[in-house]
Amino acid sequence: MHSLLLLLILLLMKHTSQENKVSEFEFFKSRCDYNCTFEPYHVDTETLKLFPTKCREVCAYLLIDQTSDVAEKQLVTAFKNVKVLYGSLKVSKTNLTNIKFLSGVEFFECDTDSPLLFEANSELTEIGMTNFKSTSCAITLNNIQKMERLNLPNLKNFYTLFNPPLLSIDIANKLCLTIEEITNFVSSDVWEMHPFHNPYCNFSSSDLSKFDEKICEVQHFSLKSFDSSCKRIFGNVMIQSGDEEHVRKLENVTWIYGRIVINGTSLSVIDFFEHLEYVAYFKDDEYSIYIINNTGLTSAVYPNLRLVRTTNKNPRVIVFRDNNAQLSSDPAVCFNIRNSLNTTEKLIPYIDGRTCEDIANVSSVIEPFVWLMVTGSFLALFVLNDYIF
Ligand SMILES: *[C@@H]1O[C@H](CO)[C@@H](O)[C@H](O)[C@H]1NC(C)=O
Ligand SMILES: *[C@@H]1O[C@H](CO)[C@@H](O)[C@H](O)[C@H]1NC(C)=O
Ligand SMILES: *[C@@H]1O[C@H](CO)[C@@H](O)[C@H](O)[C@H]1NC(C)=O
Ligand SMILES: *[C@@H]1O[C@H](CO)[C@@H](O)[C@H](O)[C@H]1NC(C)=O
Ligand SMILES: *[C@@H]1O[C@H](CO)[C@@H](O)[C@H](O)[C@H]1NC(C)=O
Ligand SMILES: *[C@@H]1O[C@H](CO)[C@@H](O)[C@H](O)[C@H]1NC(C)=O
Ligand SMILES: *[C@@H]1O[C@H](CO)[C@@H](O)[C@H](O)[C@H]1NC(C)=O
Ligand SMILES: *[C@@H]1O[C@H](CO)[C@@H](O)[C@H](O)[C@H]1NC(C)=O
Repeated sequence: MHSLLLLLILLLMKHTSQENKVSEFEFFKSRCDYNCTFEPYHVDTETLKLFPTKCREVCAYLLIDQTSDVAEKQLVTAFKNVKVLYGSLKVSKTNLTNIKFLSGVEFFECDTDSPLLFEANSELTEIGMTNFKSTSCAITLNNIQKMERLNLPNLKNFYTLFNPPLLSIDIANKLCLTIEEITNFVSSDVWEMHPFHNPYCNFSSSDLSKFDEKICEVQHFSLKSFDSSCKRIFGNVMIQSGDEEHVRKLENVTWIYGRIVINGTSLSVIDFFEHLEYVAYFKDDEYSIYIINNTGLTSAVYPNLRLVRTTNKNPRVIVFRDNNAQLSSDPAVCFNIRNSLNTTEKLIPYIDGRTCEDIANVSSVIEPFVWLMVTGSFLALFVLNDYIF
C-alpha cells in the first residue's frame, strides 16, 4: 500500500518536472529560463550545438580544456549574443590566445566557490573581455606563462554573494595590471588580491589620458621639485627633513600608486593630505603609509582617505614609529587618527607596535598606578613626619 503511494508520488513528480523542465542545478533555478541553460559541462563540437545561442542571459558551468575540439571561431559564434553569464568558467590546458569570444559579456555571477579559472593555457596572452563590467566571481590565473595583460579595462563593479572577489595570480611572470585596472579594482570595497610579484605595469603614455585628473610618474620623489598640479602620483612619496615648508604641495593629491614615507622631519602635524583618497600599494612586507622618526609629530589626519590597499588582508598598513611620545601614549590622539580614516580596523593605525586599544589599556593601567604612587608618597611623608618630629 505504502509503496503504491510512493510510486504514485514519484510518477507525479516525474510528470511535473518534465512539464516545467526545471534545471537540475539549484543555482540556475532563479536565474535562467530552462531554454537558456547549458547543461553539458564540457564544451566541445558536439555539446556546443546545444548552446542557447539566441539567449542574452545564459546559465552554464563552462569547461573548456585540452579535449575541447572547438576552434575559436566556433566559440565566437556560439557566444556572440551573451551579455550575462551565471555559473562558472574554467579554461584549462587549451591553446587559446585570448578569451575574446566572451567579449560581449558584461556581467558574470559565479556559483559558490567556482572562480573564473584560467590555468595552464600556454598560449594565452590576455583575457580581453573588454565589455566585462560587473562580477561576484573570483579570478584565478595559474601557470599562464605568456599572459601579459588582463585587458579587462571596464571591470569595476565587484560584489559578493559568497566570498569577496579575489584576484589570485600564480606563475604569470609577464603579467602586470594597468593603472586603469588597478584603479577600478582598488576603488571597490570588496575586492581583494593575493600577493604577486609585479602588480603594476610600467607607466605608459596611454595612462595619461585615462583620467580627468593629471597623473604624473615620479621615479625619485622630491617634494621641492614636485609639480603640485599632479593629482595622481605613480611612484613612492618620500617626505624628509627639509621638505616641511613644501608639504602643502600635496594638498590636492587624490591617488598615490605607491607608498608614503615621512621620515625624520620636524612636522608637528600631518594634515596636508586633504584630498587623498587612495593609496594603492601591494607589498605586504612594507607598510603603505610609514611615518617614522618625526620627533615633534603629535597628530595626523586624513580626512578623505577611503582606502589603503595592500594585497590580501594585511591591515598593518598605516604605521607610526619613533615619533613624538604623545602619539604612543595618548589614546585620544590614536583614536582621532583612526576616526579620520573612517575605519574600524583594529590594526589601523599601528603606533610603536600598539593599537589604539593597547594604548588606552596602558594609560588606564598607568593612571591609577601614578595615583597610587602619589598618595603612597604622601602617606610615607606623613608617617616619616611622625618619626622625625
Ligand atoms: C522555450 O522553448 C519553448 C519550446 O521550445 C518555447 O515555447 C518558449 O517560448 C521558449 N521560451 C523562451 C523564453 O525562449
Ligand atoms: C596545442 O598545440 C600543440 C602544439 O601545436 C599541440 O600539440 C596540442 O595538441 C594543442 N592542444 C590543443 C588542446 O589543441
Ligand atoms: C619596465 O621598465 C624597466 C626599466 O625601465 C624595464 O627593465 C622593464 O623591462 C620594463 N617592463 C616591462 C614589462 O616593460
Ligand atoms: C589645489 O586646488 C585649489 C583649487 O583648484 C587651488 O586653488 C590650489 O592652488 C591647489 N593647490 C596646489 C598646491 O596646487
Ligand atoms: C629614514 O631615514 C634614515 C636616514 O635619515 C634612513 O636610514 C632610513 O632608511 C629611512 N627609513 C625609511 C623607512 O625610509
Ligand atoms: C631622525 O631624524 C633626525 C632629524 O632629521 C636625524 O638627525 C636622525 O639621524 C634620525 N634618526 C634616525 C635613527 O634615522
Ligand atoms: C565611512 O565609512 C562608511 C562605512 O564604511 C561609509 O558608508 C561612509 O561613506 C564613509 N565616509 C566617508 C567620509 O568616507
Ligand atoms: C585591556 O586590558 C584588559 C585587562 O588587562 C583585558 O582584559 C582587555 O582584553 C584589554 N583590552 C584590549 C582591547 O586590549
